[in-house]
Amino acid sequence: MKKTMILMAAAVALAIAISSSAQDEATSVQAGVYSQEQAERGEQLFSEACRVCHQPEEFANGGYMEGWNGMSLNDLVEFIRSTMPEDNPGRLKRQEYIDIVAFLLKQNGLPTGEKEMVRQELKNIQIEGPYGGSGEQ
Ligand code: HEC
Repeated sequence: MKKTMILMAAAVALAIAISSSAQDEATSVQAGVYSQEQAERGEQLFSEACRVCHQPEEFANGGYMEGWNGMSLNDLVEFIRSTMPEDNPGRLKRQEYIDIVAFLLKQNGLPTGEKEMVRQELKNIQIEGPYGGSGEQ
């Protein structure tokens, strides 16, 4: 009987540890989730693949990003990946779409950090303001 109780207590403790570590990973675009170099790569890719139809200004200064508030970066990346470039959706590599989104974050004045964004983390990064100007126009 006593042994069963101890095992049960251990199982509960483990379950709590697992669920709280999953929660700890949740973060926001305000936390410096992409690097400067990644945004620069994204800018280059945007010039090659998107600029024929779009100006980066269309997606800058919060005007576009506000519509995504409360969604995750994964939602934004997958949306762009499945619809753009309009004449050939999904043509780029997944990581290239992620780099382009890093550039879009930069255009919205969101802070850079040490690490690059990678696919596995995108679901845990929430899109939220405030947004600012990029200073790169
Ligand atoms: C062949 C032209 C073309 C190319 C190339 C293209 N787009 Fe688009 N894009 C469009 C059109 C047309 C729309 C819909 C009208 C609009 O919002 O401008 C659109 C809309 C969008 C939207 C807004 C969608 C929404 O409703 O929220 C985003 C974001 C976007 N494009 C990103 C990109 C990115 C990033 C690339 C490069 C990988 C790209 N587009 C390449 C034509 C293009």
